[in-house]
Amino acid sequence: MKHENVEKNIGLMIVLILIVVSFGGLAEIVPLFFQKQTTEPVEGLKPLTALELEGRDIYIREGCYVCHSQMVRPFRSETERYGHYSVAGESVWNHPFQWGSKRTGPDLARVGGRYSDDWHRAHLYNPRDVVPESKMPSYPWLFTNTLDGSLTAKKLETLRTLGVPYSDDDIANAKASVQGKTEIEAIVAYLQQLGTVLKDKR
Ligand code: HEC
Repeated sequence: MKHENVEKNIGLMIVLILIVVSFGGLAEIVPLFFQKQTTEPVEGLKPLTALELEGRDIYIREGCYVCHSQMVRPFRSETERYGHYSVAGESVWNHPFQWGSKRTGPDLARVGGRYSDDWHRAHLYNPRDVVPESKMPSYPWLFTNTLDGSLTAKKLETLRTLGVPYSDDDIANAKASVQGKTEIEAIVAYLQQLGTVLKDKR
């Protein structure tokens, strides 16, 4: 086929351009589905416990992700501040992941273990009690709301269908392990495990 034919036939040109561009896209996207680095959990990764999972759902309900990302980028300015950059293998069991990009507050991907449980409780009750200049909202209701655990086992089961390795025991004990606990206990448990799997390899 003469090149002239392609240039004079815009429909044909569009089709050929799409084919060429899709090769570029496929070459970048398809390998990600098969690479160990992006599909396999990092060594030592554990699924969230039932209580941490309830905490994760409170994190989503309260919109914490509106101001906080959970994604340390691979730049020196980030790793000096937050620790090891985030890797895909840490997120393989997160459905939905909480990476985000909006940072009104600091990134939380590695906040686990940085503060005590008491600090988090004081901070969530009223951020200005511990960080006077903070503009983060207060969440006092987390201290009185309790979990009934009625959906916890179902949540674990659903995640298991997505490949999260929960055992039958985990699912059977899910309700009992959260029932009657306060929401603050759940969300602090969630925050305290964030990013801890790679923490020591900083
Ligand atoms: C309106 C924006 C906003 C929302 C919503 C928000 N935060 Fe924050 N957060 C901030 C800001 C700003 C800071 C920095 C000042 C401070 O420490 O209070 C912060 C700090 C933090 C820190 C300390 C991080 C560090 O490394 O020092 C934690 C933990 C935290 N937030 C958790 C949460 C949780 C959990 C929620 C949801 C219940 C939440 N935030 C909702 C703005 C927000």
